[in-house]
Amino acid sequence: MISDADPQKIVVARRGSPLLIGVGVGEYLVASDASAVLAHTRSVVYLDEGDVAVLTPEGYRVLGRDARPQDRLVDDLDWDLDTLALGSHAHFMLKEICEQPETVGHTLRGRLVGVDGTARLNGLNLSPGHCARIRRIVIVGCGTSWHAGLVGRCILEELTGIPVEVEYASEYRYRRQLRVPGTLTVAISQSGETADTLEAIRAARAAGSMVVGLVNVVGSTIAREADGGIYLHAGPEIGVASTKAFTSQIVALLLLGLHLGRRREQLDVEDGQRLVAALRSLPDLVARTLQLEPQLRELARQYADARNALYLGRGVNFPVALEGALKLKEISYIHAEGYPAAEMKHGPIALIDEHMPVVFLAPKDQVYAKTLSNMQEVKARGGHIIAITTEGNGDLRHLADHEVRVPACPPLLSAVLTVIPLQLLAYHIAVQRGCDVDRPRNLAKSVTVE
Ligand code: G6P
Repeated sequence: MISDADPQKIVVARRGSPLLIGVGVGEYLVASDASAVLAHTRSVVYLDEGDVAVLTPEGYRVLGRDARPQDRLVDDLDWDLDTLALGSHAHFMLKEICEQPETVGHTLRGRLVGVDGTARLNGLNLSPGHCARIRRIVIVGCGTSWHAGLVGRCILEELTGIPVEVEYASEYRYRRQLRVPGTLTVAISQSGETADTLEAIRAARAAGSMVVGLVNVVGSTIAREADGGIYLHAGPEIGVASTKAFTSQIVALLLLGLHLGRRREQLDVEDGQRLVAALRSLPDLVARTLQLEPQLRELARQYADARNALYLGRGVNFPVALEGALKLKEISYIHAEGYPAAEMKHGPIALIDEHMPVVFLAPKDQVYAKTLSNMQEVKARGGHIIAITTEGNGDLRHLADHEVRVPACPPLLSAVLTVIPLQLLAYHIAVQRGCDVDRPRNLAKSVTVE
């Protein structure tokens, strides 16, 4: 607000949506997102809910809900301005897909401890006592972040032995919150501003739970309201369809699993060391997976006119099927469904005919043979099969119309690789169809309303 009486004074207030002040040289900037001020300054002051700030040429003052002056910290943005430019890429989504070898590396950087086979997570703020007392983990999130949570359930149960529930934040917040001692709530959010996820953590805290956030945007509301957390450090994500945040969320969940698993002695040193070594090799494997792009571009040419698509997977790759289907519908407007592969026979199999492309997630893992028999069921009904499988796996040409092979890795990590061909397929199909990839209709990057 600018008053007529004093046009040199600007008054801003935060209510509901995020708000920050950029502190420049001889200027102040007000924005809802740090990326908007990055070209002018790296120093920002995040306002809390209910804050009012008064800006004049002499400086700024922040008043809290009670109208008393508040000291709010000046944060330094560590984002690189280049991350906000397209560079040689046609769209931010493609740029962000291609950045994943680096962004996965950034999520891991400084956190792996080889000798002890564990992860150092200083921001988590969980003492050894807290870690020992956890009896139940509840993961909350929306959209792509919820899919990462489903991958996280498999990872955390496997590495820590703790039962995990995964909840849509929007559903969780309106249910009765059970007070279960020893509950740890994990909020997953790229933006750290999603209204439903924020309210879910407030509800969880009111029911006595500790809350940790897996968040990308430093200083965002969820990051500040959580008791601790793991920043993704994936850099700003501009494309509305989330890509690099998803792979970093899975890596952060692997780090959390490693840390808790070792602290609770569910994971011995040797297993921890093996996981650390596998995580260290992940950025290179992601880079190799990106070399599949020409094959996915060609597949997109063949399937750009599809009206429906089915994505099937099992275990950690069931949520990848959901994520592949979400990417396709978000940016190409093709109706797509993700399903657990074995559930297909309980309904979706009725949809399969020679017009239905079916994407199978079939990496080498403990359910590989079962997935092949699900593929056989689709083939028998004339569906077109695109199999995402592992290098060195047997020949699938008798079953699949197309084979896309990602590098081999331990099954628990495979979602980081298998999702990449699905991101590229959705991207190239949307480009073929002439869609506005970075700004799909009806969608918003941050959903700060419920
Ligand atoms: C919106 C975005 C999605 C995102 C979801 C959750 O719907 O379009 O890409 O997955 O919000 O966002 P968050 O920032 O909480 O991860």
